[in-house]
Amino acid sequence: MNMISQKSAVGEAHSKIILFGEHAVVYGKSAIAIPFPLRIRTKINEIEGDTTITSLLYNGSLKDAPKEMNGLCECIKETFYILKRPCCNINLEFESEIPMGRGLGSSASAATSIVRALFEYFNESLSTDLLYHLVSLSECYAHGKPSGIDMMAVTSENPILFRKEKGAVDIKDDKEFYLVVADTGMIGGTRIAVEQVRQKQEENMERVNHVLNEINSITEEAREAIISGDSKKLGMLMNENHIRLVELGVSNQLLNHLVDNALENGALGAKLTGGGMGGCMISLAKNLDHGRLIGQALLQAGAKRTWHFSTKTQEIYKQI
Ligand code: PMV
Repeated sequence: MNMISQKSAVGEAHSKIILFGEHAVVYGKSAIAIPFPLRIRTKINEIEGDTTITSLLYNGSLKDAPKEMNGLCECIKETFYILKRPCCNINLEFESEIPMGRGLGSSASAATSIVRALFEYFNESLSTDLLYHLVSLSECYAHGKPSGIDMMAVTSENPILFRKEKGAVDIKDDKEFYLVVADTGMIGGTRIAVEQVRQKQEENMERVNHVLNEINSITEEAREAIISGDSKKLGMLMNENHIRLVELGVSNQLLNHLVDNALENGALGAKLTGGGMGGCMISLAKNLDHGRLIGQALLQAGAKRTWHFSTKTQEIYKQI
């Protein structure tokens, strides 16, 4: 790669955790997501020739990128088009702390950091609506028909209550909670899981709609618990939500095992997070030290890595 000037720019985005309401959100129900302090950074440098990508997944020209990057490539091309610049003469370098395909919003974060970096590089201001438009191009490749919660969550600094028709509303006055996130090490199957819920609904409309409505009520109650700082209630609601996700068929053996293990180690509540069928689970700890102990137990129970963190200070610790 031949750099031709010192011109550069950086765009960043954080990841997200869905606390309540995944899957039900696809059917217009409420869901709650919070920022998760793992970040992705896109650095842009001016070079000669084609636009190129430097990343762990792929190094080379944008036009030869593998199909796994189709969504991000569409997003990059459309951003150039909107900026009215030819799609050449830059290298995009990605540095990510967010594991891919684990329900932590890596695809939405990557697209967000790219769009922010390109607008910064060309010194243009970026409206929130335009950012959503560009990121959603990439998200449609990743998820088919996403509800939009990932994109809203990775661009928000606060916990959000999200509904498809109403968008995101910040949950203000939230208190401090301590969460443990455990990675199963298995790539999650969001697309397949969403399709499976759809099929289940077709086969048994009444029962599945009932479960989706129950998840909606759990999420609405959880919003109150977050505002009032009632961690016992919040934990109990996480357990209730997980039972409904198991009934929808989107959990798996390892996720259930890790949920049980966290509860045996004193967690106030535990559930899978995101699309499921792999990916990550979350549990609610009493404090950071308790979070560390739950994390250690989860590693022994089969998790590949854990993070425990404060939702308020965003102080985060990783264990492997
Ligand atoms: O990207 P994930 O795995 O966190 O899944 C997003 C949440 C779903 O409700 C399963 C899908 C969607 O589009 O909302």
